[in-house]
Amino acid sequence: MRKPLIVGNWKMWGSREKAKNLVAGIVAQDSDEMVDWGVCPPFPYITQVLEQVGCDRVGAQTVSADVDVPHTGDVSAAMLADLGIRWAIVGHSERRAERGESDGIVSQQLRCAIEKGLTPILCVGETFEQREQGNEERVVRSQLEVALAGAEANWPLVIAYEPVWAIGTGVVAEPHQVQAMHAMIRSVLSNLGISGGETPILYGGSVKPENANGLFALDDVDGALVGGASLDSEAFLAIIEAARSAKAA
Ligand code: 13P
Repeated sequence: MRKPLIVGNWKMWGSREKAKNLVAGIVAQDSDEMVDWGVCPPFPYITQVLEQVGCDRVGAQTVSADVDVPHTGDVSAAMLADLGIRWAIVGHSERRAERGESDGIVSQQLRCAIEKGLTPILCVGETFEQREQGNEERVVRSQLEVALAGAEANWPLVIAYEPVWAIGTGVVAEPHQVQAMHAMIRSVLSNLGISGGETPILYGGSVKPENANGLFALDDVDGALVGGASLDSEAFLAIIEAARSAKAA
């Protein structure tokens, strides 16, 4: 296993007080250098979180695909870089579905992030219908190929495989489904000239302390992008611990 990475995506949850307590709860108990971790708070709380935990542990949940344009409400990669933030999630299925972010837009977001020195966490994943029709590999391959067209070998990158049907549903993908997809993603990355062997590939979708051990035991799973369970410091720490045990095994 590459150095495991566990990232919490808080989505649109929290308050100043909750963010403070959540991060304090994680920091108080985490002493483990074998596992890398971070959190992606809602934009209004990013500054307070990075002051508490350091910018190396903070990511943004999205980033604008544009540079120097008058877009009300958008946040540019330059602004995130100005704060010293480490990651930017791009291509999350909630934004693809609800904000119309196409593969082309995701590709632009990814390039903006990289240009400013951020590491994009590129989310890919199929819907339930696409899997029912046997199209899951085709869909994920195409998402990767469009987003990463013309990629350079040294681009900083994290991939998160998040089957849409597993997000927030309590239904975690079966280990054989996860392993097969992660192995395919690794080979697509290599074909695109990106170091597939070095790029962390996270799984996301109903990751909980109860299922984390089974996921992290898989050869090509390097960690997790955690939604709901990242809002509870004990659960998030238990997932970090599961990654540590898998690494040590
Ligand atoms: P859940 O862990 O709540 O299923 O969310 C996963 C996710 O969307 C992380 O980005």
